[in-house]
Amino acid sequence: MEIRITETLVSQPSWIILCFSVGTLSVLRLFLSILRGLYSFLRPSKNVVDFGKWAVVTGPTDGIGKAMAFELARRGLNLVLVGRNPIKLSQLCAEMKAQVPSVELKTVVMDFAEDIGEGIRELKGATKDVDVGILLNNAGLMQTAPTFLHEIDGKFWSDIINVNVVVPTIISTVLLPGMLERRKGAIINIGSGNTTIPAFPLFSVYSSTKRYIRCFSKCLHTEYRQRGIHVQCQIPWIVATKMVPTFKPSMFVPTPSQYANSALRCVGYGSEVMPYWSHVLQTVLMQFPADFIMNWATFKSLMDVRNQMKRQGV
Ligand SMILES: NC(=O)c1ccc[n+]([C@@H]2O[C@H](COP(=O)([O-])OP(=O)(O)OC[C@H]3O[C@@H](n4cnc5c(N)ncnc54)[C@H](OP(=O)(O)O)[C@@H]3O)[C@@H](O)[C@H]2O)c1
Repeated sequence: MEIRITETLVSQPSWIILCFSVGTLSVLRLFLSILRGLYSFLRPSKNVVDFGKWAVVTGPTDGIGKAMAFELARRGLNLVLVGRNPIKLSQLCAEMKAQVPSVELKTVVMDFAEDIGEGIRELKGATKDVDVGILLNNAGLMQTAPTFLHEIDGKFWSDIINVNVVVPTIISTVLLPGMLERRKGAIINIGSGNTTIPAFPLFSVYSSTKRYIRCFSKCLHTEYRQRGIHVQCQIPWIVATKMVPTFKPSMFVPTPSQYANSALRCVGYGSEVMPYWSHVLQTVLMQFPADFIMNWATFKSLMDVRNQMKRQGV
């Protein structure tokens, strides 16, 4: 039987053999990536304390950052919490101490959209004599509704670029030397699922900043992996936080703590990961349509959201 199939194949014109080979290789590749994806949900988590005793978390006062900060504290790390709101920071410290009494905490007040000179000096002071093993570049900013570029003034767009791109880059430069000296560490940058589709219209600036984060993480991963530092971009689709107030938790929209649990399981594995299972499913389904169809469908659905928000006066 096997021989007959081979004989039939060999007797075909070369273009059929070529198509068959390309098709077989593609199926094999898809199969291997499914296996790899499944394994990523089964493999054991790394012990985050092995990277160092402290973690720096930006944007820990809400949403994903807050849930991940709690998860890191529960796993035995002390934290330097970098946030813009001193009241939210001190409330967070009280909440954290109540839940994890053994955790040591330091806070740095820094508004990433303003002059960060003083904040960076404070961060250097807070991390000078401590062994920072993990940097979680999580703080992020996005406009609440789908918007054309000309509709908001430039200051807001530059705030998004500063919060999502400039400051994580600078904070990484502050913490890398210590990690290099100790020859260990992990930098986790939070990207976004919208970078896995060809375009994300009406969120042009936000989506572009997340494309920077993906590229930045890949480059750093390649530069520093031999020197013991693991740089990773974590890519969530929608998580139910105040950044996306119209979304409620569902199968495709995890709560911050569901997401944080999955995210921590990925630390130390791969330069790019999509931690939440249903986000992976969503991404796979979105790879099938041609780019122009995806662009049209994304634009149309975001225009619908925009019109609905306008009608509701949001
Ligand atoms: N939620 C989603 O669906 C989703 C999807 C993909 C990617 N992400 C990414 O995930 C990360 C966390 O987002 P989230 O959903 O958890 O949003 P969130 O609930 O709005 O939390 C964002 C955090 O960033 C802080 N932040 C915002 N602007 C800042 C500034 N100017 N200076 C300093 N800190 C600032 C916030 O501080 P305050 O507490 O003071 O507001 C908050 O702690 C972001 O990078 C975001 O782009 C989120």
